[in-house]
Amino acid sequence: MDSLLIQGVHIIDPVNGIDAVGDIAVKEGRFVEPSDLTPERLVIDGSGLTAVPGLIDLHVHLRDPGQTDKEDILTGCRAAAAGGVTQMLAMPNTKPAADSPETVRYMVEKAKNADARVHIVGAITKGLGGHEATDIEALYQAGIRALSDDGVPVLDTSIMVSAMKKAAALNIPVTAHCEDPYLAGGKVNEGKVSEALGVKGMPGAAEDAGTARELALAESYGLPIHICHVSTAVSAAMIRDAKRRGVRVTAETAPHYLMLTEEALLKRDADYRMNPPLRTEHDRLAMIAALCDGTIDAIATDHAPHTPQEKADFVQAPNGAIGMETSFAAAYTVLVKGGVMSASDLVRKMSVNPAKILGTGGGSLSIGEPADLMLYREEEWTVDPEKLHGKSKNTPFKGLTLAAKVKLTLYQGRIVFDELRETAR
Ligand code: DOR
Repeated sequence: MDSLLIQGVHIIDPVNGIDAVGDIAVKEGRFVEPSDLTPERLVIDGSGLTAVPGLIDLHVHLRDPGQTDKEDILTGCRAAAAGGVTQMLAMPNTKPAADSPETVRYMVEKAKNADARVHIVGAITKGLGGHEATDIEALYQAGIRALSDDGVPVLDTSIMVSAMKKAAALNIPVTAHCEDPYLAGGKVNEGKVSEALGVKGMPGAAEDAGTARELALAESYGLPIHICHVSTAVSAAMIRDAKRRGVRVTAETAPHYLMLTEEALLKRDADYRMNPPLRTEHDRLAMIAALCDGTIDAIATDHAPHTPQEKADFVQAPNGAIGMETSFAAAYTVLVKGGVMSASDLVRKMSVNPAKILGTGGGSLSIGEPADLMLYREEEWTVDPEKLHGKSKNTPFKGLTLAAKVKLTLYQGRIVFDELRETAR
């Protein structure tokens, strides 16, 4: 059935200034006026539910091509659907890296059959090696919609500047993994927890030195930059100051930096290890403050699937945690239930602002737009990794009770995730 009516639902659509109960109609993949629907339609009872624009995740690793034992484009998008995510930026640290038109075309083609819209991020340097520039125009022709060497910083600063100039001309974002490679390389945040565990620490200064370089480039050249996965109070303060001076900087943080701290590492469980690492309570509170005052524009997951075998050894395991299925619920729990942000402002951080940064549409429920939407209910649920939909289970939210649950996701008018089936028709 290509027509659908969601009746009596709480609608949050910040772009159109809506925060009220109403009906939402969908026909042939787009939002329409309810009066445009024929009697032949699926009806969903929206009572007790809230409808928001599909979430847009600016930071996802889909592992395809090359590491499809961890995730692939289709399973990653199933996880996205279960988290209410309808668009995402897929990072280029695949195997091979997304540094050639052939690899980008493979990803674009495979994503056509997925349950969410995947925008490919092209690599800035070949093999993410930091020294040899890719052919950005050729990657753009093949379909990339952003540039990054995510996972690592672009080592050669002159290549970074050149990529920022080309990206600005193409009107696509550069997203920066900020890290000084000489200071980085530890296993957990450097401090009392790394000492207690007896493992090498990753100082906040490694991230801050990287952030400082990218802000300096953006300011000196007047070019835009997007700062990935901010985790330290110092980086947030630098971004705040830069914004005040008019630097064209946007930034994201991730739900794990809002909900967890380095203390979680004392369990010696590698599911809590990611890069940047979980930091201190001071940093966690600084992330929340930076979201609230507009320093940090977006919440993105850094969804980074790894197999249980890889994660088995606390020290040897690769960095990364999955996140798309829990991102809204975790952020809602900390920010909305925690009383520091309205649900409407959370939707700005997870849909409206990412849409602006990406420039690929979405972020609203406007009539005529593709019908990307998520329905959630405020209810408690406990995260069970085995019940998640992606291939890998390395979630740092396991066992935590969250305060909101995604119930249904529409992608271009198609139901791609549905927990209401039993109750609501
Ligand atoms: O924890 C991380 N995992 N940080 C990154 O920057 C890369 C990512 C991955 O690809 O696993």
